[in-house]
Amino acid sequence: MITAERHRQISNAEGQEPSAPFSDITLIQSGLYPDGKVTTIRGGDSEDPLMEAAAMLMNSVETALVNSPPRRWLQRFEAARLVALGGRTPGARVAELGCGSGYGTKLILDVFGAAHVDAVDLDPAMVAKAGRRLARYAGRVNVAEGSATDLAYAFSPGGGGDASYDAVFEFAIIHHIPNWRDAVGEVARVLRPGGRFFFDEVTAAALARPTYKRLFEHPTEDRFTAGEFLAELQRQGLEVGERWRTYVGSDYLLGVAVRAPSDSRGDRG
Ligand SMILES: C[S@@+](CC[C@H](N)C(=O)[O-])C[C@H]1O[C@@H](n2cnc3c(N)ncnc32)[C@H](O)[C@@H]1O
Repeated sequence: MITAERHRQISNAEGQEPSAPFSDITLIQSGLYPDGKVTTIRGGDSEDPLMEAAAMLMNSVETALVNSPPRRWLQRFEAARLVALGGRTPGARVAELGCGSGYGTKLILDVFGAAHVDAVDLDPAMVAKAGRRLARYAGRVNVAEGSATDLAYAFSPGGGGDASYDAVFEFAIIHHIPNWRDAVGEVARVLRPGGRFFFDEVTAAALARPTYKRLFEHPTEDRFTAGEFLAELQRQGLEVGERWRTYVGSDYLLGVAVRAPSDSRGDRG
């Protein structure tokens, strides 16, 4: 049985404090251990499921950065670029993957004009922080603890159904997920035909940089280039066309995809 103590051992071995209380119960609730069974998550470095899950969460340096004023400034810049590429979403029902501290959720409501946001994050500490930030939007926001790879579980009851959202947003989270294609599959599943997917990603080129590797922790296997991410969207019936840009060479990828009607979607394997 993997326990919170095991997580503390891993964190201590890596010279850092655990970022949040982290237990089998948390992993079961978040859907990482489906049906309460401890399983190995595909696509990562290790056979140890807890190590895999820990790689999805941020280390202390990245947590501090994500909660900092420069990140909020950058996120406003990203939101403006996304509006330029894909427009606003007035009155939309939206899902957000990996909401972190909830600042992106606030932008989805205030800048994009969404009516309602179901937001999910794996880290209970982030969910609590987002809940505090978004308290004044009560009734328009649901912040859930869970995984972007199982939105029906995370948003149950009442959310995460097939074709149930007008838009899905993700600000810099899919590169944290070992089985990242499953997260793209969830986006394709929950978007209604014609619905839009707003994405902001960190590519394998950035993750391979020595500074990135020194400062942050991410899964290292099977990361994606900008081209590979765009190809996966297309494969899953999310059409990007020309609505994407890379920044800092090809380190960062921003764009907006549109879910094709069901009958024109390709083989999603
Ligand atoms: C780099 S942070 C980005 C946070 C926020 N979106 C932002 O742009 O500031 C990545 C976030 O994704 C969350 N995360 C990682 N894996 C996840 C998963 N499988 N499902 C949901 N959230 C996840 C982490 O807990 C973290 O809050």
